[in-house]
Amino acid sequence: MEFNYNLNEIFQNYISKVCNTLLPADFNGDRKRASHVASQVADIVDSMGLASAKAQGLHHPITSAEKSRNCDHTLYIMIDPRENHGNGSVVGILKMGVKHLFLFDATGMVHEKETLCVLDFYVHESKQRTGLGKIMFDYMLEDKDTVPCKLAIDKPSQTFLSFLNKHYGLAKIYPQNNNFVLFEGFFDEKRDVSSSLESLENSYVSEKSRHEKEVRDNNQSVTDRREREDYLPHLYGRHTAFKPHDTMGDIIGDGSTGHNQSPTRNGE
Ligand code: ACO
Repeated sequence: MEFNYNLNEIFQNYISKVCNTLLPADFNGDRKRASHVASQVADIVDSMGLASAKAQGLHHPITSAEKSRNCDHTLYIMIDPRENHGNGSVVGILKMGVKHLFLFDATGMVHEKETLCVLDFYVHESKQRTGLGKIMFDYMLEDKDTVPCKLAIDKPSQTFLSFLNKHYGLAKIYPQNNNFVLFEGFFDEKRDVSSSLESLENSYVSEKSRHEKEVRDNNQSVTDRREREDYLPHLYGRHTAFKPHDTMGDIIGDGSTGHNQSPTRNGE
């Protein structure tokens, strides 16, 4: 898309990041220049937002300067600096934002998550299917330090679904009850499974050790009881008879007589 001003004076790179100031992240200039550039970027954002809505058959644009000023979204703007007699042209936009979502995993469990979402993505018709969308998307992934399957996609078009499938192999969708689409890999399935296995294992181990302790306690009380019972016969029959103090045992002090509590020779 062409504009009647020099885009190379606004954007220093093929892809620039713009947030709610409507200034490129690498902007350098005084207040007067900042205000001038911000109004040109606002014009670019409005025009590309409208073109994106038209391409997606939407009644209202998802992306506008007004919305960008009031939201904490990141807008990536790609230009081709050589076109329009060296004034450059805008190739595409990609808008990302974090949303608080309630999301269903494969088991139907709901997760409340702050989620990075693809909100709007558009490559100008004259440039589509030439690989530029992938370059822009990869730039965003690196900038956000993420991978495609960790993103939620806001109501993707068929072309975007085809794009995600072709370039990133995303095919298996987790159905949601909102406009967002999630793909397999969004939730930490392996970690979830292994952590539930781990907790299952832990509960098994604690149940097992509880059981073992019970058995041990039980055996101990049986032993104690036996020992007590072993001792009980002493209360009956001949064992009840008075046993004279074994002085030899005291002298030997080897305990073999059962009088091992006797003082040693040293009186210890
Ligand atoms: N029909 C079907 N698939 C398409 C089309 C199309 N018209 N355009 C792109 N694709 C998919 C295909 O998988 C294609 O591979 P193929 O040519 O081998 O079939 C692949 O994307 C091409 O990849 P790129 O060239 O890297 O992508 P491109 O520069 O075309 O950008 C984009 C992709 C942004 C989806 C672009 O096609 C576009 O602007 N489409 C119209 C607007 C749109 O639908 N945007 C997504 C809205 S949903 C959202 O923003 C959350």
